[in-house]
Amino acid sequence: MIDLANKIALVTGAASGIGKETTTLFAALGATVVLTDRNVEGAAEVADAIGNGASALALDVMDAGQWSEVCAEIDAAHGRLDVLVNNAGIMIARPFADAGVEILRKQYAINVEGVYLGMHTALPLLRRAAATGSASIVNVSSIYGKVAGSEYAAYSASKGAVRALSKAVAIELAKERVRVNCVMPGPIATNLGADWEPPKDESGRLLTPEEILAAWSALIPAGRIGMPQDIAPLIAFLASDAAGFVTGAEYIADGGYTAA
Ligand SMILES: NC(=O)c1ccc[n+]([C@@H]2O[C@H](COP(=O)([O-])OP(=O)(O)OC[C@H]3O[C@@H](n4cnc5c(N)ncnc54)[C@H](O)[C@@H]3O)[C@@H](O)[C@H]2O)c1
Repeated sequence: MIDLANKIALVTGAASGIGKETTTLFAALGATVVLTDRNVEGAAEVADAIGNGASALALDVMDAGQWSEVCAEIDAAHGRLDVLVNNAGIMIARPFADAGVEILRKQYAINVEGVYLGMHTALPLLRRAAATGSASIVNVSSIYGKVAGSEYAAYSASKGAVRALSKAVAIELAKERVRVNCVMPGPIATNLGADWEPPKDESGRLLTPEEILAAWSALIPAGRIGMPQDIAPLIAFLASDAAGFVTGAEYIADGGYTAA
């Protein structure tokens, strides 16, 4: 059984999808969760539903000033941070030939700089937790940081950077008992990328959500795409003391997609 009792945990991008499920599970496992999102109303709704001392704070992960404010609030309220989950991210699909460098910069600013800023700004609080126990950072990468997906060049580059960044920071902080690990989800049913146009079939017709789901499911050995509930327990394990010797590691959860 994973135990997060007495842990103070900050999760970014907690208003939706994987972040929402992760905070809900963390709280059920005993953690006091601080939900952050640039959609603070959404995060507050989730925090209200969770109860158990859960709170919500506005945080756009690209904003260094907001990171400092959030860490100052956690310092004042709790004096330390045991777990940081850098989950907030965006995904923009675009054929490489049509994608200018701004597509890369936009995804890097959130998916990579956001993670760097978070680890950097929260480090003093994480060190305080580690001084009397241990602290854990979990960064949400993607299988597209490992394998390629057509039209995902910039997203893949950003998620590959999260893997490299996590390992580099992990080895520097290992002796201080601040662990840093990565999770690499496969396709998960969330709002990610919901704002872009669906793919088309050979006749140019837009595929329906059911057709997209069926096409993805056919590619995955498990026969289905994942749910946020497939990822949150992995993050919870890495956040917990049960993973005390696990750092600089990467965990794939993709129903066998990258194994095939
Ligand atoms: N869904 C998938 O198939 C999948 C697969 C692999 C990796 N991931 C990764 O999982 C993470 C969570 O995504 P999700 O699938 O739950 O998507 P989601 O869109 O449901 O949730 C993402 C959350 O991040 C927030 N967010 C976006 N930009 C932000 C910013 N600049 N600052 C703060 N919050 C911001 C959004 O408001 C949203 O609440 C992302 O890093 C994503 O890349 C998702």
